[in-house]
Amino acid sequence: MAPQSTSDLSPGEIALPRVIAFANQKGGVGKTTTAITVAACLAELEYRVLVVDLDPQGNASTGLGINARDLDATIYDVLLRGEKLENCIEPTAVKNLFVAPANLDLAGADIELVPEMGREQRLKKAIDTVIDQYDYVILDCPPSLGLLTVNGLTAATEVFVPIQCEYFALEGLGQLLRSVDRVSQVLNPTLEVRHIACVMYTHTTLADDVVREVREHFGDKVCKTVVPRSVRVAEAPSHGKPVTSFDPSSAASKAYREIAKEISGGTSNRPR
Ligand SMILES: Nc1ncnc2c1ncn2[C@@H]1O[C@H](COP(=O)(O)OP(=O)(O)OP(=O)(O)O)[C@@H](O)[C@H]1O
Ligand SMILES: [Mg+2]
Repeated sequence: MAPQSTSDLSPGEIALPRVIAFANQKGGVGKTTTAITVAACLAELEYRVLVVDLDPQGNASTGLGINARDLDATIYDVLLRGEKLENCIEPTAVKNLFVAPANLDLAGADIELVPEMGREQRLKKAIDTVIDQYDYVILDCPPSLGLLTVNGLTAATEVFVPIQCEYFALEGLGQLLRSVDRVSQVLNPTLEVRHIACVMYTHTTLADDVVREVREHFGDKVCKTVVPRSVRVAEAPSHGKPVTSFDPSSAASKAYREIAKEISGGTSNRPR
């Protein structure tokens, strides 16, 4: 699909293809779960979606049923060995959903990238070679603000921040927002945090306080739908499926479908 010229858009509309970095340097807040499940929901809506796993833990890959240990090419080879991105893309069991996997090889990349030419733009250059085949590219960033995340922010058209409904939820968020600002000043001028979602919600006063505080801080950027904590979500990765395939009618699956609709709602063009 040819990218639309921004002059064809009405106010507030966003052109496809979109590249969304799921980022929050806090660990275990639901980045990967949210990235792969939103990706699966967008694929259900018939968009063509590529998930790029930027985390040496490889959770997005295993969560989509890919055992990245035995692969000939992973995102590490793309970023550091000049491998073509198209050679490392794998189909998943979800129609329209593809993944560029990562494994532990990527653990050294934050340091190995330091002396390399164009170190911040390597992922963007790789994505540019396949972008015409996708409507959405979803980047699962690691829990750090190192060069892998900077590559994600440089390649992205927008940032999605999942926030866990727990005490200290907003801690460290200022650092992430400063990184987004820095990347937008130097490398990617149109980058912005477009969506924030509250995840792992439980019916407690604490969780309600966190949701209220997030809405006070970030207003309209915060998704209307909150994702509940659910055992089914935690079980899904061990089956190599997003929860929307593992338990399609669960409350969490419904919530993630609503979030995918909120994300794609302002999009100008239909799936290919
Ligand atoms: N809505 C939910 N209900 C229950 N468990 C959840 C939910 N969302 C995520 N989890 C679980 O919480 C843990 C952390 O989630 P996830 O791996 O998505 O976080 P992350 O931010 O990607 O972590 P990391 O920083 O290590 O990359 C996982 O075990 C996941 O299965
Ligand atoms: Mg993760």
